[in-house]
Amino acid sequence: MSERYKRIERCLEDVRAKTDFVPEVALVLGSGLGGYADGIKQVASVDYSEIKDFPISTVMGHRGRFVFGYVEDVPVVVMQGRVHYYEGYRMEDVVLPTRLMKLMGAKVLFLTNAAGGINFSFEAGDLMLINDHICMAPSPLIGENLEELGPRFPDMSEVYNKKLRNIVKHTARKLDIGLREGVYIQLTGPSYETPAEIRMARTMGADAVGMSTGCEAIAANHAGMKVVGISCISNLAAGVSNKPLSHAEVQETADRTAPLFRKLVTDSIVNIHRELDNI
Ligand code: HPA
Repeated sequence: MSERYKRIERCLEDVRAKTDFVPEVALVLGSGLGGYADGIKQVASVDYSEIKDFPISTVMGHRGRFVFGYVEDVPVVVMQGRVHYYEGYRMEDVVLPTRLMKLMGAKVLFLTNAAGGINFSFEAGDLMLINDHICMAPSPLIGENLEELGPRFPDMSEVYNKKLRNIVKHTARKLDIGLREGVYIQLTGPSYETPAEIRMARTMGADAVGMSTGCEAIAANHAGMKVVGISCISNLAAGVSNKPLSHAEVQETADRTAPLFRKLVTDSIVNIHRELDNI
């Protein structure tokens, strides 16, 4: 067994020393959704600092811990705060939490984020179901393959599981929540993009831009998890409106959209869980 896989197993041991909770769904909270974990029926929590060798985020607004509990009756692990490539971590560290949640037992990875709207029809405050991505950050799979998790050359033709996407779309319709759909492009950040970069991304087929998610989706897919993702369009991307971008605006819009986002995430998780055997 490789040293790199053993490291994930050691992290699992630290988690297991505190809780033997087995989640079905792993949920990653992006900007603005951080409070979601406080609303679930909590059973246990593990601060990232309690896990030896675990990468810890430095971004404002991100609390670093795993929360274990139930969304309605669905056993979940919630990542309150994630690490980003732009913080200086290696990709291997950025996706370690994803792999760890797979080892905890999670079958589905539910990713959320705040993103800039590239598609001209988008408005700040929209929610967008991710139907595919363009990952412009280095692949998290570079380096010796972790055979214990998945193959050297994994297929990426349906990173965001179609059945899961349909469930989220159906859930949004039932809740009367308008849901956009599109391609998410992950750039490294931490600077926001230039208008020229956004024009390039649009030409490439991207609808929303951010600094996370793609790499986690790749690692999860590699490890055999089913992935679904929703972006909160927290701002129009550079050059789409003539306003300068600010982290404060991103946070503010994400906070404003949080109640709807929360509802959609909760009902989607319940509906996904119901269908899990057929996915
Ligand atoms: N660009 C990149 N990342 C982002 C943005 C953006 O406009 N908004 C939220 N995250």
